[in-house]
Order: sequence, then structure tokens, then C-alpha cells
Amino acid sequence: MRLTVPDLHTMKREGRKIAALTAYDATLARVLDQSGVDLVLVGDSLGMVVQGQATTVPVSLDDMVYHCRCVARGVNRAVVVADLPFMSYPTPEIAAASAARLMQQGGAQMVKLEGGRSRSEVVRFLVDQNIPVCGHLGLLPQSIHRLGRYAVQGRDQSSARLLQEDALILREAGIEMLVLECVPADLAEAIRYELDVPVIGIGAGPACDGQVLVLHDMLGLTSGKPPRFVKNFLAGANGIADAVTRYVEAVQDGSFPAPEHSY
Ligand code: KIV
Repeated sequence: MRLTVPDLHTMKREGRKIAALTAYDATLARVLDQSGVDLVLVGDSLGMVVQGQATTVPVSLDDMVYHCRCVARGVNRAVVVADLPFMSYPTPEIAAASAARLMQQGGAQMVKLEGGRSRSEVVRFLVDQNIPVCGHLGLLPQSIHRLGRYAVQGRDQSSARLLQEDALILREAGIEMLVLECVPADLAEAIRYELDVPVIGIGAGPACDGQVLVLHDMLGLTSGKPPRFVKNFLAGANGIADAVTRYVEAVQDGSFPAPEHSY
């Protein structure tokens, strides 16, 4: 049976961990779906792992709609979430038009956008149009040209407090889920307890309500040294479906992420 956004809320309430992975095409989306992944994220990370770009910034809304439509064709059970790419949500009206394309043409059930309090007006407007929104705080890849490098966020007291406030402000604006990327585990744990909607971590420690990884990273396909939070689940597995099943089980039983994958 098809999972829904309210089902993800139920999973949080019942303490059942949400296993999420990215996908960009129908075949791998089907493998994820049949291996028990609850949420398939069509991430704008496709710019880097599919298109070979240096960052996610060049990814267009057309790219996202195309890949989302491919993924949606492969999924029968999981919730499909799609990223609003860079500059597709500068105003509430433009954001609504972008989100409508991801949902109507791409088949997404929820859209994800990056940023904190400055996005609250956009979030509120989308929610008013009945568009489920996932926030994304911590390391924001679309802001890489301002940040300068991919680094852990919220390490000091004042940035941690700002991040915690942002999470509450976004929730107040109506987000129904939050992705926390590259933040200290204790900060993620505090946010996870404060929010009544699922908090999905990537490099955010074991306390989150669920975990997400970029598929290519957890299959050991990404070039260069992987970030600390990545584990190669294909190593020792009997193919991709088995690697994904092992990932789902590890998220569900809390063995991933382990301390060595956390900050
Ligand atoms: O684009 C993406 O894949 C993401 C994940 C890293 C959370 O946003």
C-alpha cells in the first residue's frame, strides 16, 4: 500500500525509524521501493552524482521534474519527495508554481527546500495551497558559494541556537518534515525532541526519526574520500538490492548511524 506523509508522522509517533534514500531513475527507485525504503528523495544532488556538476547550483527545475517523473514510475509504496532546486523558490508565488510542476508533472508527494527563517513566508504560502513541505537545515548545499566549503554546521553555541530557532520557525510556518544535514548529534537530538514532525538526519547522529543518504554514496560509487557520515553498504552485500535491504535494517534497528558516522 502507498505510504503517505501522515503515515510518516505516525511512524515518528510510534518510534519507528524512517529509512530514506535518494534516487533519480525508475529502475533504482523500484529497487529501493521493493527493498523497504519508506521515502525516496529525488535530490538535487543529481547535479553532482548524475550530471557530474561540481555543485547542486546548476540543477534546473526541468531537470528535477524529469528525474522525479522517472522515479515516480518506479515507486509503488514509498513517499516520493522532490527538491525545489536553486532559485526555484525566491518568492511564494514562484515557489508555488515550481512545486506544482514537481507534483503535477513529476508525481512528487512533498517538496523540500533549503533554508531557515527567511523561508517561512514561502513555506506558509505553499502549505496554504495544500503542498506538503519538508525543510532542510544545517549544511545547505545550494548555499555553497556563500559557505565556501561543505562543513558541519551549528558547532558553536550561537549558531546552534539559531538553527534550533529556525527549526521551530519553519515548523510554525507549516513544514511537515525536516532534513538536518551535517550537524552535531546532540543538536539534532534536541531538535528531534522539540518537533512533532519527523526529523530525517544525514550526518546528524542516531537520534533522528529517520536517516537519508545519497544512493551513490552508500553504494561506494562516489569519487574521492566520502564524508564521515557515509557508510558503504554494498561492501560485503550480495548486490544493490541486498545493500539497500541492509541499509533499511540498519536504520530500523538503530545500528546506522554509529558513533563513527556522527559529529
Ligand atoms: O539533494 C539531496 O540529495 C539532499 C540530501 C543530501 C538530503 O538534499
